[in-house]
Amino acid sequence: MPRRYKQERTPIDWAQQVTPPRWLPRRAYITAVSQLYHGEIATLAMCRSLNETAIVTEDQHFLQTQIADETRHIELYRRYLERLGDIAAPEPALAAALHGRFEWQGSALGTIVAVHLLLEGEGLRVQREYGHWFPCSLLRQVNANITPDEARHVAFGRRTLVGGLNGITQDERIAIYRWLENLWRDCAQSMSQDIPSLIRLTMGQRWMNERWSRHRKVLIRLGLVSEAEAA
Ligand SMILES: [Fe+2]
Ligand SMILES: [Fe+2]
Repeated sequence: MPRRYKQERTPIDWAQQVTPPRWLPRRAYITAVSQLYHGEIATLAMCRSLNETAIVTEDQHFLQTQIADETRHIELYRRYLERLGDIAAPEPALAAALHGRFEWQGSALGTIVAVHLLLEGEGLRVQREYGHWFPCSLLRQVNANITPDEARHVAFGRRTLVGGLNGITQDERIAIYRWLENLWRDCAQSMSQDIPSLIRLTMGQRWMNERWSRHRKVLIRLGLVSEAEAA
């Protein structure tokens, strides 16, 4: 019997105005919010490709629900950005995800970890930080409406990783870890210096290095690699 994931969602009052922060140029604000939008598009593309892989057959119901969730999230951010008047290009880390570099060539487990733990985990962090920095009540409502879905998706990634570890070899576990680490460092290094300072703060190299050490701890705790294997 398929599990149900229905839940109450925070309502969004679209009659409200968008209120960009006064301390930030409007263009930089559009660039910042656009990253949430591109993150949703990247996640949706990954979920669609995961849904076609055999390893996750028993989780296809979850992935189908998630595809509906991500489609809804894209629409919410698109609608918000429409109010701002434009959508900016994705920053390098998200461009990498959009171009399929988050897809592992071995078992689907690698892609699940990349998408559900790294990409979605970062999405949640950025949502939280924007909520702290930006005064726009409409954006906060949009984020509050989306956050419970994303937390559920990250939990799915963790559960699937733990459940799938027995089905792969030690070599593949370590290879997935190395791939994730290189992917993360590549994204950090590709950060251009002329991106708006706000984005550099949330997605810049220093931040990404610090964030990698947190992801590393989680991956060790969940059993993808031991401390010794990660070294
Ligand atoms: Fe999403
Ligand atoms: Fe998600």
